[in-house]
Formats: sequence, structure tokens, C-alpha cells
Amino acid sequence: MPQHTRALSEAGVSTPTGELQFGVFFQGVNSGTIWKAAESGSQTDFESFRRIAQTAERGLFAAFFLGEGLRLREHLGQPHALDVAGRPDAQTMLAALASVTSHIGLVATQNTTYNDPADLAHRLSTLDLLSGGRAAWNVVTTDNAWTGENFRRGGYLDHADRYTHAEAFVETAKAVWDSWGPDAVARQGTNGSRPEGGASRRVHHQGQHYTVDISPRLPRSAQYRPVLFQAGDSPAGRDFAARQADVIFSGHPQFDDAVAFRADITARTVRAGRPADAVKIMPASEFILAATSAEAVEKQAWVRELQIGPQQAVAYLEQFWGRRLDGWDPHGPLPDVGPAVEETSETRGSGFHGAKAAELTAQWRQEAAEKEQSILQFVRAKAGRADASFVGSYSEVADKLAAYAAVGAVDGFNISPWLIPTGLDDIVNHLVPELQDRGVYPTEYRGYTLRENLGLAVPERASVGEPAVR
Ligand SMILES: Cc1cc2nc3c(=O)[nH]c(=O)nc-3n(C[C@H](O)[C@H](O)[C@H](O)COP(=O)(O)O)c2cc1C
Repeated sequence: MPQHTRALSEAGVSTPTGELQFGVFFQGVNSGTIWKAAESGSQTDFESFRRIAQTAERGLFAAFFLGEGLRLREHLGQPHALDVAGRPDAQTMLAALASVTSHIGLVATQNTTYNDPADLAHRLSTLDLLSGGRAAWNVVTTDNAWTGENFRRGGYLDHADRYTHAEAFVETAKAVWDSWGPDAVARQGTNGSRPEGGASRRVHHQGQHYTVDISPRLPRSAQYRPVLFQAGDSPAGRDFAARQADVIFSGHPQFDDAVAFRADITARTVRAGRPADAVKIMPASEFILAATSAEAVEKQAWVRELQIGPQQAVAYLEQFWGRRLDGWDPHGPLPDVGPAVEETSETRGSGFHGAKAAELTAQWRQEAAEKEQSILQFVRAKAGRADASFVGSYSEVADKLAAYAAVGAVDGFNISPWLIPTGLDDIVNHLVPELQDRGVYPTEYRGYTLRENLGLAVPERASVGEPAVR
């Protein structure tokens, strides 16, 4: 038995579905999307979102995905001059997209640290209702204190506490969604649309961080409740996903890593008392495709050049060094100076999370020296998410993906297009048919709700309507 198959069967993954699903992750702000090519659209115009969502739907994608950042990105304490500015609110954007799409799932990333559960549950229920059961919530905890400065309660939660809070938050939201009985669907017309007595139960939660005492305002949706995605990779984040999530948006797209991640999540899911296959996994990924592999490699060089120029490369390092490095030549070696702080977990940039700055920067200097890479070359390889890239001809990449499907390493991929709004065209026009020919990609939508299309079971109504006190 091949090693990866053994790893999966030991973890309890016995019957891979043999099928992959695609999601599209419209990132907006980041260095992964090229905003300055002649073909680039706008990061805020509805047209960009509409075009990507409709192309994805033409390609039978399961989900359209929006990230969340609750503050304009800063760099060394100033608005990030090399980043595009502006990110529309995810739920509002998805509500607009619901009216120009019919099958694709609409996933809003929303954090549990700066929202309130009963309110968020109601807004997501509304999206679920008006999209006919296509809403999903990507649960994140948000890992920087500077986001917290924007909120009355500030950046008050450390890592472990954020997950305790997240669990209470999600359980409360689920209690809200569970609160209406199966027959308590609002009926047409003024007479029949009132809930009958006892049709819904009151949700009460009193915990460390918030108190909820409400009668939820909406009955269940066509897919029972929004699908729950989760993104967060620490052991606490993985256990949280194993207990609560339907799908993980993971950062593990490479084959061996994906297999190891699947085995780890399956073991955690079983320990949490859920079926081994209860949690689907869709890693972040990028596709650079062409008719031949030589053309794809050429295209990759062009993409990397436009994603990260000399200034972006230096700015990228500055996030980790915590200081200005503008005197350093982007075509020369990595800076031979230490970072401004030895160790920090929360800074205004995004580079320091959990990383020990001194250790990390020393390691990078050594790595770049060994590979004889300049700052620019090093950052293009590091920040360009080389590990998440699938580069090759349509058929080569299709063969590669089919190998993931065969062993059940993942349930699909969440694709970040490097060009907006045309970045999915070659995937939908060429890769999807190749995958369909190999029998590893759907040829039609299974149903209308996201839950149906992802092949997820309808949740059982919780027997107790009150979440545990946390
Ligand atoms: C693939 C992925 C995507 C994420 N997307 C977002 C996002 O859009 N907004 C956000 O605030 N946090 C996002 N996060 C960060 C998580 O919310 C979390 O705060 C962070 O990963 C730290 O938790 P961890 O230590 O469990 O990984 C993302 C994390 C991952 C792994």
C-alpha cells in the first residue's frame, strides 16, 4: 500500500469521494492579485465580483469566497502604499451577488472576536434566506490587536482565549439557527406567517465575554443553517474546526502536506465524536495554466514579476524586520541587520504572527544565501505562495489534481485568481473539462443549496438549545 494511502487509512479515511470541488477566493487586498496589468479590473467595483462569480458558476464552482479585514492595511504604522485600498463589506457584496447567481455558495469570512453571535447569526440567516440556502460563514478569530483598536472592546483576547470565545460564539449562533422547529417555516401571506406558540425556543447564553437572551427572528433556511467554514491552523484552531466546522479552508495544498493535514484533521474529528469524513478540506491555491508546460512556466515568470516588484519585495521583508529597509538593494542579498524587535506576536503589520522575528529573519538570510537569491528572488519565491501554485499545461495539472482525488487528500481547492476579473477563464474553459473527462469533477450542480452541492449532511437539531457557558 503506498505510504500516503496508508497514512489516510490509518487515520480513518476509508472511502475518498473521488471528486473535487472548486471555490474561488476573491482576495482583494494582497500581493497575490495583479492590479496593474492592462487587463486588471477594480478591487471595489461590483462588476469585478459579478464577473468572477458568474464565471465560477459557469464552471460549477461550489463556492465564492470573500475574506475579511476590518481595517485598512497598514505597513510600519502607515496605510500600506503598495497595496490596493478598499474592501467592500462581505455580506453586503454577497447579498448583491445572490441576485445575479443561482447555484454557487456565498461564503462570508466573519470573525468571532469583534462580532456578536445573535446578530451575526441573524445577518447570515438573512443571506441564506435570500440566496435560497447558499450562504456560508468562514469562521476566523482574527489575529492582530491593531484590528481591535477599531472596536469598543479593543484587542483584548490572547490566542487561547480567542478560541474559547470562538467556540462559545459558534455554539450560540448554532443555537440561534436550531431554535425554530422543523415545521416552523414562515408561510406565505400575512395570516400564516406568524410562528405558532412553541415553534421556536428562546436562546440564552451567559458567559465570560457576552450575554445573549433572545427569541431568534428567522426560521431555518432551505439548507437548515449556513455552512460553516473555518480558517486557522494552530492545534487549537484545528480542534475547533474538528468540533464545529463543515469545511476547512486550509493552507496545505502540497500533496504530502495535504495528506498529513487530512490525516491530522480526521483524527481530531473522530476524537471530537464526529464521523471521520464530517469535515471537508479545501486548501488555498493558485493556478497558472497554459496550453503547454513551457508556456505555463513562461507565464509564471510574468505573473511573479507583476505580483512582486522591487519595492514590494523590500516592503515584504520590512513586515518581518519591523523596520524600514529602503537602503537595501532589492537585487542584493537579504539585509544583514537584525529585526527591530526580538519577538512579538501582535504588530501592526501582518508578518510577525507567532513568529520569533530574530530566529525567522536569521533563517531566511541563511536560506537566501544558500540558494544565492537576491531579496527580489527570495520574496518572489516566498510571498508568491510557490507552495500553493499549480503550474503547467491543462492536462498536466488535471492529472496532478486527479491524484489528490484518488486518495482523498483534499475535497477540493479554494482558488485565488491572480487576475481580476478574467482570472478564472482558463480554469473554467480548459481545466474543468479536463477534470470532468477524468471523472473527478462534477458535471452539474447536485442541487440548489450549498450543503447539497458540497455533499454535506443536514445537521441534527441540537437537543439542548443553550450553548455551554464559556
Ligand atoms: C487560509 C486562511 C485564511 C484566513 N483568512 C482570514 C481573513 O480573511 N480574515 C481574518 O481576519 N483572518 C483570517 N485568517 C486568520 C485566522 O482568523 C486566525 O486568526 C489566524 O490563522 C491565527 O489563528 P491560528 O493560530 O489558529 O492559525 C485566515 C487564516 C487562514 C489559515
